[in-house]
Amino acid sequence: MWYNNLLELIGQTPLVRLNFLTRGISATVLAKVEYFNPGQSIKDRIALKMVEEAERKGLLRPGGTIIEATSGNTGMGLALVAAIKGYRCIFTVPDKQSKEKIDALRALGAEVIVTPTNVPPEDPRSYYSVARRLAQEIPGAFFPNQYDNLDNRQAHYETTGPEIWEQTEGKITHFVAGMGTTGTICGTAQYLKERKPEVQVIGVDTYGSLFQKLHETGQIDPKEIYPYLTEGIGEDIVPGNLDLSLIDRVIKVTDRNAALMARKLARYEGLFVGWSSGAAVWVALQVAKELSPKDVVVVILPDHGSRYLNKIYNDSWMRAQGFLEPTSELTVTDILRIKARKGVGLAAVAPSDPVRRAVELMQRHEISQLPILDGDRVYGLLTESRLIEVLMDDPSAKDLPVEQFMGEPPVIVLPSTPVDIVSKMLTREMPAVLVQLEEGGWDIVTRADILNTLIEMGSWQR
Ligand SMILES: Cc1ncc(COP(=O)(O)O)c(C=O)c1O
Repeated sequence: MWYNNLLELIGQTPLVRLNFLTRGISATVLAKVEYFNPGQSIKDRIALKMVEEAERKGLLRPGGTIIEATSGNTGMGLALVAAIKGYRCIFTVPDKQSKEKIDALRALGAEVIVTPTNVPPEDPRSYYSVARRLAQEIPGAFFPNQYDNLDNRQAHYETTGPEIWEQTEGKITHFVAGMGTTGTICGTAQYLKERKPEVQVIGVDTYGSLFQKLHETGQIDPKEIYPYLTEGIGEDIVPGNLDLSLIDRVIKVTDRNAALMARKLARYEGLFVGWSSGAAVWVALQVAKELSPKDVVVVILPDHGSRYLNKIYNDSWMRAQGFLEPTSELTVTDILRIKARKGVGLAAVAPSDPVRRAVELMQRHEISQLPILDGDRVYGLLTESRLIEVLMDDPSAKDLPVEQFMGEPPVIVLPSTPVDIVSKMLTREMPAVLVQLEEGGWDIVTRADILNTLIEMGSWQR
């Protein structure tokens, strides 16, 4: 069995139940995992539909050029369709897009023009204006214009909606989807409401975008439109695909909550998804909390996490944005960094060293335990309390080798081990763990080191 080309693999994505993040929720929450599309996003569906309709209407002919303003995923879908069908592609993308997304478009043979994010859509430099102008200037150009092209919405009416209906056997009660061009939410909602008018449709919007206000008041408030980070959802224009009558509620999500939820989906459900998927699931869980066991919530996860590796899946980037509590994801590396800054090196003794050498070292470094090491080999841990016992018993023991008095070897951890795991390992009997360094050699982490780090990180936060 084979496929004639990748286009035959677009759609028919799986619906997967969320199990861990839904603890305490009695409704069923099902994720439609759109990264199973060949371009790893939901936009493959509309790319194929818009191109095929343009071919049918004679707007796109052999040798033609596809020009689109895209936040990345539509470009990916169009580039894939164009590669298979033999069209040239030029995309304009806003400069807040991940570099990975832009590189991926170029890998598929597209030409990419990066435009400034912080200009209004009617500005001649905006990604929308640049795409429109190029489409007018280049002969044989087709401008799919996913915002206003109703084939976008139609693609979801014809595929996403029926798939969800069949996959839930009509049991769906709530549909949650991000709002960008609004093709996904409006096309799918139209199909679902035709089959079952009581299905509740909940749109996911970001702070800085116009949808929620527009839905609630019919107004656009320019003061509520400002730059934000989440990619793929939220708008500063009203897309032609929007039909507000299909949407029952719009809920906004912060960039931070969306990013943290995407990370949780990866870590706890194995769903390595993009930023807007985090936003959508954040909303789906808010909605599902109020529901009963009879309810079935379907939430769209639009794309894959690989395109966000340098952003939401990068701890340093997340901390720089203030999205990670400085302590919530501390690792042993953070402790070692703070120790290194203070010039604290590893003090250790060899098995044959006399007890008095160990006592000297403990006093000099003001520490209460010493690992007993010989090259790469870890023998055990020597504690201050054990030495007090030994010397009280027999003061002449100071000349005996430490190996006679050592306790069990300490647990060995890696620099990447989270601090909360290390802190659980530390007990009165085993007050330190050894860290096996990537570059070879050892370091030690004690309870005092953890306390120091927490205090230092706390002062960073202020
Ligand atoms: C990652 C991502 N999520 C969500 C959306 C929103 O989908 P729609 O444009 O159909 O409203 C998009 C649209 O570009 C997207 O790229």
